[in-house]
Amino acid sequence: MERLRVGIIGCGQIAQIMHLPYLMELPHYEIGAVCDISAKVVNTVGEWYGVSDRYVDFEALLAQSDIDIVAILTMDHSDIAEAAAEAGKHLFVEKPFCFDPAEGRRVLSAAARNGVKLMVGYMKRYDPGYEYGMARMRAMDDVRLIRVHDFAGDFTVHEPLYTLVTGDDIPQDVLADGAAKIDAASTKALGPNHTHLSSLYNMLLMLSSHDLSILRGAFGAAEGVLFSDAISPTEILSVLDFGPQRRCVFEAGVWPDYLWWDEQLTAYGKSETISIEFPNPYVKYAPTTVTIQQNEGGSPITKVAPVSHEEAFRLEWLHFYDCICEDREVRTSGADANADVELAVEMVRAIQVR
Ligand SMILES: NC(=O)c1ccc[n+]([C@@H]2O[C@H](COP(=O)([O-])OP(=O)(O)OC[C@H]3O[C@@H](n4cnc5c(N)ncnc54)[C@H](O)[C@@H]3O)[C@@H](O)[C@H]2O)c1
Repeated sequence: MERLRVGIIGCGQIAQIMHLPYLMELPHYEIGAVCDISAKVVNTVGEWYGVSDRYVDFEALLAQSDIDIVAILTMDHSDIAEAAAEAGKHLFVEKPFCFDPAEGRRVLSAAARNGVKLMVGYMKRYDPGYEYGMARMRAMDDVRLIRVHDFAGDFTVHEPLYTLVTGDDIPQDVLADGAAKIDAASTKALGPNHTHLSSLYNMLLMLSSHDLSILRGAFGAAEGVLFSDAISPTEILSVLDFGPQRRCVFEAGVWPDYLWWDEQLTAYGKSETISIEFPNPYVKYAPTTVTIQQNEGGSPITKVAPVSHEEAFRLEWLHFYDCICEDREVRTSGADANADVELAVEMVRAIQVR
């Protein structure tokens, strides 16, 4: 089996908890180089994984000719992704794909021009529980109401599960520049009347781009946004149009006092309701459950299926291997992810400015 060599750019939490361990374990891949602006992080991770090619500058990693794929696991991806495509590397880009669809389009054309594959890390789309529930939802021909509900809780509950190294050696001005760049992209995407909602937009992209993707995977593209309201600076309620007599209520927000994970995609048909309930994504191997309510012989019944313990972060890498080696279409493409960002812009712009 051909082993593809992966260069990691951004070796923070999600790299350490998920991507590095699975890339190490899968025979399909080899970790060829690591890069982080924190020398402490890149050296520690390099030691842990036995990787000697370590960089603090991503351009140096891109110049390494034996790297096939670049995994972009920083917060802001567009500039690195565009440069990596120009360097002829296949791209694994974490979500959100970008903060401004114009930046996303630049990455898409660089990838097309250079003939490289581009996958966005929407791992939930590879989750066997999602695949099972989504197939059942697609088979229903009378779905009138779809509900997406994602109230993220305390983001630190998983931390005691892992040994992590953090970049406390990064100069404050470098961190501030990174945050300012994301802010500028968000402001540009939203336009002058909605700039004050950029924290809501960022919440939508950071947390709920996953939900936009699972919704797209099950029901295709929304036709438009009928209503949006900002309940608070980090909570949104929208109604999306999915064609004649089909609507989606989309509720998302951050509720830091919740110690549990509260994320579902539910489809309501006339005589059946199917709900896919996602676990805390940082807890490995926790199953996504599918709950089915239906009529059976005149009685209402509820079935709950914890479909599989397979880890979606591992499965997405297996899919990407096949896409590259067998020239297959990527399920979570850059074009779809950019359309998700465009929809997020539309959802925020639909909020009436009072
Ligand atoms: N798929 C998921 O469910 C999931 C979960 C968590 C995070 N993420 C995504 O993964 C990305 C990273 O999130 P995280 O929680 O690991 O963040 P993090 O802050 O822990 O890690 C980011 C790392 O990138 C490094 N970095 C920043 N700029 C860099 C640059 N120019 N070159 C090299 N390194 C650079 C930082 O020093 C840091 O170590 C984000 O895009 C986030 O949305 C996805």
